[in-house]
Amino acid sequence: MNRIIINTAAGGERISRHIYGHFSEHLGRCIYGGFWVGNDPAAAASIPHTRGIRNDAAAALRKIKIPNLRWPGGCFADEYHWKDGIGPGEERPRMINTHWGGVIEDNSFGTHEFLDLCGQLSDPSGPRCEPYICGNVGSGTVQELSQWVEYCNFDGLSPMTDLRRKNGRDTPWNARFWGVGNESWGCGGNMTPEFYADNFRRYATYVRNYGGAVPYKIACGPNTDDYNWTRVLMEKAGAFMNGLSLHYYTIPGDWERKGSAAAFNEAEWLVTMRKAYFMDELIRGHSAIMDEFDPRRRVGLIVDEWGTWFDVESGTNPGFLYQQNTLRDALVAGIHFNIFNNHAERVFMANIAQTINVLQSVLLTEGPRMILTPTYHVFDMYQVHQDALMLPLHLESESRALGFGSIPVLSASASEDENRRIHISITNIDPVKEQNLKIDPRGCTVSPSVKLSGQIITAEKMGDHNTFEKPGAVKMTDFNGASLVPGGLAVELPPMSVVTVELA
Ligand code: AHR
Repeated sequence: MNRIIINTAAGGERISRHIYGHFSEHLGRCIYGGFWVGNDPAAAASIPHTRGIRNDAAAALRKIKIPNLRWPGGCFADEYHWKDGIGPGEERPRMINTHWGGVIEDNSFGTHEFLDLCGQLSDPSGPRCEPYICGNVGSGTVQELSQWVEYCNFDGLSPMTDLRRKNGRDTPWNARFWGVGNESWGCGGNMTPEFYADNFRRYATYVRNYGGAVPYKIACGPNTDDYNWTRVLMEKAGAFMNGLSLHYYTIPGDWERKGSAAAFNEAEWLVTMRKAYFMDELIRGHSAIMDEFDPRRRVGLIVDEWGTWFDVESGTNPGFLYQQNTLRDALVAGIHFNIFNNHAERVFMANIAQTINVLQSVLLTEGPRMILTPTYHVFDMYQVHQDALMLPLHLESESRALGFGSIPVLSASASEDENRRIHISITNIDPVKEQNLKIDPRGCTVSPSVKLSGQIITAEKMGDHNTFEKPGAVKMTDFNGASLVPGGLAVELPPMSVVTVELA
């Protein structure tokens, strides 16, 4: 028996739209060949673009209301020196991208191009796609970070604003989100939490407020379940930060053999789901520690890297992290969004890794062609929750046996938007069985005049995915499996499905 009780009168927390954020690193074909064709005359001639940024990618991301974009890394951020990426293209120095494939980075995509990209991703009638810039703490100086902020955000006269104007930009961009290092416990400098906490305080001091956008300073948070990192950071530096990041990837195997992205069996499907559910435990664990030091929940938890990580596709550069994206990824995305929505009290932002051609991408490109992945359609479906009022729910779900434990087959979240429409999103991970669900919305009357509609993402086989030849194999379609019954709704959820039902 599956049941959801929704308290429609108890909404309190807003689901921050930034939960639906993205991450794009100088890694593989995410920026170069993904977003950016400005340094490749052949690509630029055959792919429609605006100032080097692909029009198809920008339009697809505008459609899902991308709220923010994190850049330039990832591990790359801690070896990136932003002044290498400004000024005339031919004068920009080249460097080796030591983390990702040892390829030459020509710095053609830098600060101006990234902020132009964020502008092109913004829907003129809605909130803009906010830049989230990750500063270099591992190999960069306090002065570098401080000048980057000044270059982007100051409107007066100064050496940095002179330089910006010389490079063709008069007004500041007012970038609000600033990361102070990335994975400083690992690729970002192998620091101890105590050393990083002191460094965070020092670097963050010089992330100045120039008036146009009060900086939201994000500290490097823990790797997965390193609760000691969170404790030390909150104790020593909590008062100086606005957000604390968390990185967690869903990997069915281990780091050596992660598993294939598209060729997998039912056992691997279920293990992947169990590992995706683990995000809930992580958020609860880190939030409990944050609550000790920050009971008013001023500091946001910023899950700025999440998603599936599988073995790279054969024949591709192992350093480029290119993987296929199947119905399984759609379920993982739905589970994560339900978890983030339900923790709206603490999770302020999340960023899928990574937008195009890397890890759990929403877009894949091949020359001039581009496809939307199953994960893209989940972002599309869940955009109704952006900035909506979270409705707390109680879920009773059947379980699926897994090794010596079991996992629930359903996950869910609900919200009410500004037009008082209620949206209930549900995932059914059961690989074979349809699940019948009763939804009991308390605190509102579901009269026969209520307009019921819905959308679904599903497919016949768990490894189904979109290809350049068959781009619509997995997509979002109308859902007719919900009906009004006395006391609420009855929903028939097909196996392996992500569904959103609307009550208007
Ligand atoms: O997203 C790929 C990499 O994973 C990032 O560069 C790093 O932060 C993480 O380890």
